[in-house]
Amino acid sequence: IRRAALKGTGHYLPARVVENSEFEKWVDTSDEWIRARSGIERRHFAAEGEKTSDLAVHAGRAALENAGISAGDVDAIIVATSTPDYTFPSVATVVQAALKTGGYAFDVQAVCAGFVYAMANANALIVSGQADRVLVIGAETFSRIMNWEDRTTCVLFGDGAGAVVLEVQEGAGDNADTGILATDLNSDGTYRDLLYVDGGVSSTQTAGVLVMQGKEVFRHAVEKLAATAETALGKAGLTADDVTWIVPHQANLRIITRTAQKMGVPMDRVVLTVQDHGNTSAASIPLALSVANAEGKFKPDDVLVMEAIGGGLAWGSVVLRL
Ligand code: ACO
Repeated sequence: IRRAALKGTGHYLPARVVENSEFEKWVDTSDEWIRARSGIERRHFAAEGEKTSDLAVHAGRAALENAGISAGDVDAIIVATSTPDYTFPSVATVVQAALKTGGYAFDVQAVCAGFVYAMANANALIVSGQADRVLVIGAETFSRIMNWEDRTTCVLFGDGAGAVVLEVQEGAGDNADTGILATDLNSDGTYRDLLYVDGGVSSTQTAGVLVMQGKEVFRHAVEKLAATAETALGKAGLTADDVTWIVPHQANLRIITRTAQKMGVPMDRVVLTVQDHGNTSAASIPLALSVANAEGKFKPDDVLVMEAIGGGLAWGSVVLRL
């Protein structure tokens, strides 16, 4: 049995750190409000001219180093992003050229659920024998699609990139249960108006800005995240009691806390980076994975569940045993 095992993690954050208090200069908000409602304290913003692919290349290189895998051994690169450099080519092919890997590369777009979708795709490529090693990257520059006059959204998002290397493992004996054990993907396009960008190539020929009905998104998030995590765990023959770490999409501390509560998982088994990164959309889970890995949080045999929801609505989860 072929499994996709986690071999390494890496991340990159742009140099500029923006504390909550900076927003007080241009919108009617406060550090207290942002912390209390979202758990966010600061976020990183890309420098002028710094592109999503630049962040992705740094994160991808770091993950390859951490995995001890040379670029030439990568069969596929998948980048999850909703903020690509250009309409085409994909960010993934830009990363491929920069890192000098072979194989094939493509982007996946499922907004904040993008990394979970990319992991499910990478897993399918590995399990079906179409790749042995896949570099999966989540990279975003949401600062490029903010409405800086909308205090209900512009304080919530940040820029960054995280990456993982997945490698085939021929499961046998003790190995049979290592790697990605299950995935669960969902979407419901009828919720389009809850969270979208009001521009694009075939509509306005502009990049547009993010528009969100925050309260409604919040309600769906709490309801759907615990459900998808439990579904994926069920497919793996596990329950929430078996979870060593929840690695959630880092949108809002209140969503993360409520989801963990619903699952009956205590907060000391939840990886939290939202306070330092804000919501980096598809980058948030691989960023959290890489930060936690660098802090030495993970041990062999740990069971990780990653869960995310975002525009679409699209949501899903991945269960992985280290
Ligand atoms: N500073 C100060 N006041 C603000 C701000 C701000 N930045 N933003 C909104 N307010 C005001 C509102 O105008 C409102 O004032 P009013 O009562 O006079 O109308 C008041 O604060 C309360 O606003 P609510 O929208 O009711 O606040 P809520 O508790 O719902 O929190 C938030 C808003 C943080 C957006 C919340 O709804 C949320 O987190 N939703 C989830 C959205 C999310 O995380 N989306 C990310 C993308 S999808 C995903 O990744 C899951």
